[in-house]
Amino acid sequence: MTAMADGLTPMFQQYLELRRQVPDALLFFRLGDFYELFFDDAHVVHKVLGLTLTGRDGGRERVPMCGVPVHAAEGYIRTLLEHGYKVAICEQVEDPKTARGLVRREIVRIITPGTAVEEGLVDDGPGHLAAVYGREGAYGVAFVDATTGEGAVLAERLPTLQAVAEELIAFRTREVLVPAAAPEGMQAFFARLGVPVTPFDPSGAPEAREESDPAAFCPPEAPPPARTAAEALYAYVRRVYPALVRALRPLQAYRRDRTLVLDPYTRANLELFRRKRSGEAAGSLFQVIDWTETPMGRRRLARRLERPLVDGAAIAERLKAVAFFVREGLLRHRVREALQAMYDLERLTARLALGTPSGGDLARLRETLRAALRLRAVLSSAEGAPMVVRAFLAAEAAPIEAALELLERALPDEPPAAPGEGRFFRPGYDAELDRLRAVREEGSAWLRRYEAEERERTGIRSLKVGYNKVFGYYIEVTKANLDRVPPEYVRKQTIAGGERYVTEALRAWEEAEREGVERLEARERALYAELIGRLQASGEAFRALADGLAELDVAAALAELAVRRRYVEPVIRDDGRIVLRGSRHPVVEAVLPDGRFVKNDVVLDDRRRILLITGPNMAGKSTLMRQVALAQILFQIGSFVPADAAELTPVDRIFTRIGAADDLVQGESTFLVEMKEVRLAVTEATPRSLILIDELGRGTSTEDGIAIAHAVIEYIHDVVGAKALVSTHFHELAALEGRLSGLVNVHMGVEVEAERIIFTYRLRPGATSRSYGIAVAARAGLPERIIRRAEALVRRYGGRTPEEQPTLFDGGGSTAVETAKRMIPVETTDRTAPAEPVDRTPAAAGAKPEGESPAVAAALRVAEAIRRLPLERMTPLEAFDRLREWQAELGAAVKAPDADAAAESGGPKRSTGLEKTPKNARPADGR
Ligand SMILES: Nc1ncnc2c1ncn2[C@@H]1O[C@H](COP(=O)(O)OP(=O)(O)OP(=O)(O)O)[C@@H](O)[C@H]1O
Ligand SMILES: [Mg+2]
Repeated sequence: MTAMADGLTPMFQQYLELRRQVPDALLFFRLGDFYELFFDDAHVVHKVLGLTLTGRDGGRERVPMCGVPVHAAEGYIRTLLEHGYKVAICEQVEDPKTARGLVRREIVRIITPGTAVEEGLVDDGPGHLAAVYGREGAYGVAFVDATTGEGAVLAERLPTLQAVAEELIAFRTREVLVPAAAPEGMQAFFARLGVPVTPFDPSGAPEAREESDPAAFCPPEAPPPARTAAEALYAYVRRVYPALVRALRPLQAYRRDRTLVLDPYTRANLELFRRKRSGEAAGSLFQVIDWTETPMGRRRLARRLERPLVDGAAIAERLKAVAFFVREGLLRHRVREALQAMYDLERLTARLALGTPSGGDLARLRETLRAALRLRAVLSSAEGAPMVVRAFLAAEAAPIEAALELLERALPDEPPAAPGEGRFFRPGYDAELDRLRAVREEGSAWLRRYEAEERERTGIRSLKVGYNKVFGYYIEVTKANLDRVPPEYVRKQTIAGGERYVTEALRAWEEAEREGVERLEARERALYAELIGRLQASGEAFRALADGLAELDVAAALAELAVRRRYVEPVIRDDGRIVLRGSRHPVVEAVLPDGRFVKNDVVLDDRRRILLITGPNMAGKSTLMRQVALAQILFQIGSFVPADAAELTPVDRIFTRIGAADDLVQGESTFLVEMKEVRLAVTEATPRSLILIDELGRGTSTEDGIAIAHAVIEYIHDVVGAKALVSTHFHELAALEGRLSGLVNVHMGVEVEAERIIFTYRLRPGATSRSYGIAVAARAGLPERIIRRAEALVRRYGGRTPEEQPTLFDGGGSTAVETAKRMIPVETTDRTAPAEPVDRTPAAAGAKPEGESPAVAAALRVAEAIRRLPLERMTPLEAFDRLREWQAELGAAVKAPDADAAAESGGPKRSTGLEKTPKNARPADGR
């Protein structure tokens, strides 16, 4: 290394010394107002960030260099983190003005995906740094959310890496620490999950104990491997961001069997947080149910959805809170109003613990505390209040009131970002500060006076006092007046138009002024430190408050959801019964105009354990299966469910095998993925589990597919004993009903009438034997020749001939093509009276009369979306974005004649009123 440093300038020797300390990070080397990157780092950021590559004389060579301005560094750092890099921040730790020789520099922090806390670097959702330790059969895991300091450790050993992966996903892991000596497969496994992996040295962990007390950090329930993982977290945080250690809270011990376990496939399949195909949040379950008003509430809701409960009593408690706010509409409204005025108290508290909150942070804290006290007043009159409300009111208000009083007294309405310039505190807060401010004001008055007096005395009317960084204060006289300069003026600098001088008086004043500024600065910084110290003492109270607010926010939000979307409170059972009357799919329902979604009844119990669902393509099988799982999940997070009535038993796990997953896991064929999902379900499900298998065995040949499906269903029925919904196009499987006592055939009905296929979306008893696959193919626009040929071939492959499908192909020589054109989904008002009156607005009745053009359909959709737009909850920018989407949608509909059909087939993007206003999408001001 020294050899390498030979011949380099002292600064580069210093650079290389620091560089060696952080081999795994890009070094942001502070040089004045820039962070500079050198050597290989410069090439990296040149490539990744597109920064201009320049160079700097390094002594023996020219060193490649790229720079980013300090004030704009965050955006660049974010991009680098997203590309999997870590960034070491090296600062000048002494004032260059006073430094002798080379300015001292130190690495103050390494920013990694799991330890970033800045608003510009992380989104406001939950996100964790994780650590894993152990071996097959006994893994331990621990997590910490760097932005709030909260964390958890698993109080049991996990058997497999797959189980570890489930936890990592449930905790939204941003970075995982893995033992450096772990088998290679382990790192690769996590890397495949898309989680950045950082190796750690478990033998190095214990030295972390010196500074603080990680024994208190990790609760006693944690088994040894989890304890090592917790220690690794602690040591890592201490290494990369020493100040953050102070914000860390003791980890909470948790157990897996207290939560509904959802494997990664199932999370993706059910689109809990993002759409499977597009990865977008819009159209996910979370987006539909998130009516929270605060970031902490929103994170709490996300956490609930990541890990729903299984314990009936705990679910009941949550449901009680929701029911309360459903009943108390006015109170709910007022609670939500108060919540709306709040900022991210959890993260503000964490930043307070770090010791560096900005003036803006403190102002937001003040605003939040104010609103919290308002909220207490609002709630104090509530009668029959549930636990969340009672707990919120029971918390001591005194520390909050005291902190608020202090903040109101201390800070002006809009404090500057940092202390030091004399404007951070309100006049009257501190007598000494006020005095120093007055002295400074006097000083400026003296200077103005002095200038005027000197002009008078010398008779030089253009004489003026100025200031520059190098020479300090001076008196400037233009060339024409040089002869009038008094002898006691000392010349300092010659400029183009004249000369600059100093005087004894000016020097003395400047000295006093400098001292005054320093004193003022020092006083203000001391007051800041004292204020922070006093507020930190209330940290516990703030945290408890944030926690209570998060709970309240979630309860009120779920109530808002229940009221707006007419969800019902489920009755909690324990006998395995799952009964949904008038059940709807929460997301599809939200996309469709009001009342257009057709409700269904689903009943499962110990005698009726497996529903085998048949029915044509497009009939609504997949939708029905998912809606059952989603209702179950909503129930287990403590939410009402989209149904007219519900009785539900908590399940311990939900497994799904839905749709093609080959785009999710690279390098595995569709069928292999399908079989892996099935294996997971049949090997890990218990009698208390719920399994969804959509189109089992379709990825292979018909004979193999039927055989596998048959065997799997039998196994679930005879061995596993779980509840299951299984859909299939293999009508032969319907025969299982007679042989398996717990299996019941049902089908999604279509009606064929007057040459038209009508999707009724009604679940009916018994099996159906028709797929209408060719008709759907025709509708998708396959060339007519293919369709005709397929019709002819159906017979050869043992299917029903067109003649045997009279309802489909009879109509006066009509073909599947024509039939398909007439296939329209309709509301079944005329056949089966819907449970509620159908909305007759044009959009709802939307009803697409035959031949309705795509443009008209799009217009109706947009009109409906406008009608539902929650304007009062949107920013102008969001409204504008929406407008642009609609414009695009209308444009596309006019251009593409079949846009309508594409949207219908559940195709990719569909812009409707579905995307509820993203909550807290307030301007980036830290809310
Ligand atoms: N109950 C319902 N009410 C109204 N519309 C529905 C309902 N169920 C489904 N749909 C609509 O029908 C479309 C097709 O439904 P789904 O994908 O569930 O059919 P499927 O039977 O699984 O078809 P395939 O056999 O081709 O997979 C959905 O995208 C949705 O728009
Ligand atoms: Mg389907």
